[in-house]
Amino acid sequence: MRYFLSLILFSVFVRKSEETTTVKIGVLLMTSAPEPFDHRRVGPALDIAFERAEAEYGVKYDVIVRNYTGNCPKQTVIGYLSELYYIENVKAVIGPACSETIEAAGRLAQYLEMPMISGVGDLVIRKQKDMYTTFTRMSYNLDKLSDYVFFNLAGNSLARDFKADGDLPRPVDIPFRKATLNNQHKSLLTEANLHARGKILR
Ligand SMILES: *[C@@H]1O[C@H](CO)[C@@H](O)[C@H](O)[C@H]1NC(C)=O
Repeated sequence: MRYFLSLILFSVFVRKSEETTTVKIGVLLMTSAPEPFDHRRVGPALDIAFERAEAEYGVKYDVIVRNYTGNCPKQTVIGYLSELYYIENVKAVIGPACSETIEAAGRLAQYLEMPMISGVGDLVIRKQKDMYTTFTRMSYNLDKLSDYVFFNLAGNSLARDFKADGDLPRPVDIPFRKATLNNQHKSLLTEANLHARGKILR
């Protein structure tokens, strides 16, 4: 009897863990932009995340993508967000990515009480008294990054880490003095360009 009972419990447990919950969500991103947060580049990362969410957490996302042309067009994003909510009945939205469009669409998401998640939006100003209450920003806070993380926390170690990593080619140090930077910056950047794909200016 006990064996039988545990068998039933076991089968219930197994069936329960295999159950998936389906959530309909929207994705709002620019089709193609110079910035690295367009649908072309973010889309594949989202696909991987959706697959993992289903395999590991049993959450299946039914995804409606609304991609758009233009450079961070506020009116398009607000229009698409309302269509996603009122016509497609999505429960949450990933994106948009530009700060300007988050400022615009974030208020509609707040009114609709719809969760909105973005990887950037680092220029969106949120005050304690005037929050975008349904918006979650996954990126850094630009103020905190520049003041605290970049200078206080990373500081010298940022350069040291690159130097210490044997797998990376040696970084090119181009010293400059802040006082003379105004006249030098063009030649500094031109020289840096010859050696590197990325630059850290301190
Ligand atoms: C959305 O993205 C697809 C795939 O890149 C593209 O074919 C389509 O034209 C885009 N739609 C708009 C409105 O930009």
